[in-house]
Amino acid sequence: MAHVCPWWFVYTFDNPIRRLVHDPAAIFGPYVSAGMTALDVGCGGGFTTLGLARLVGESGRVIAVDVQEKMLAMVRRRARRAGLSGRIATHQCTFTSLGLEDEADFADVFWMAHEVQDRERFFAELHALLRPGGRLLVTEPVRHVPREKFDEEVSQARDAGFRRTAEPRVRFSHAALLARG
Ligand SMILES: C[S@@+](CC[C@H](N)C(=O)[O-])C[C@H]1O[C@@H](n2cnc3c(N)ncnc32)[C@H](O)[C@@H]1O
Repeated sequence: MAHVCPWWFVYTFDNPIRRLVHDPAAIFGPYVSAGMTALDVGCGGGFTTLGLARLVGESGRVIAVDVQEKMLAMVRRRARRAGLSGRIATHQCTFTSLGLEDEADFADVFWMAHEVQDRERFFAELHALLRPGGRLLVTEPVRHVPREKFDEEVSQARDAGFRRTAEPRVRFSHAALLARG
């Protein structure tokens, strides 16, 4: 089986202090607005899922996607506690396919692309799921992902048809904002 972040490891970085360094409204606010459909791919425990759900509002939708059911259960629990269940759907994907058909306006790939085995296929699937003009934010932890590897990931996304439009500042991270070509 491919290496993935174990469910219990989420607690080491997905904790109340994270809000101080990764404010979802500041990170995603410029790209996500009310009524949008957002994908949170490799959502883990759902820190970014909840932030995205607040931005899409009651008329929008967030699809939280992960290979691990334990992560998705955590997302559902947190969504219930936050009163956001109505706008969050969870979806268990496989290592070889996201298996989604929904059209989306935005996709968040936060601290997870380095865990994906076949990134060419992964970015091609995301490209097909996003509406024309849809945007993809890829963020990787500087501690685990060297700059060269991140550049390679961005280049794989470009090969799938995305173009890089910005390099937003996200603390402790490399980040690239891409648009569906
Ligand atoms: C380091 S965690 C990051 C979680 C979350 N994005 C965050 O920032 O809190 C990486 C997550 O990606 C998931 N993952 C790994 N490979 C995946 C794949 N091919 N498709 C979907 N999710 C995957 C893992 O199960 C894990 O929950």
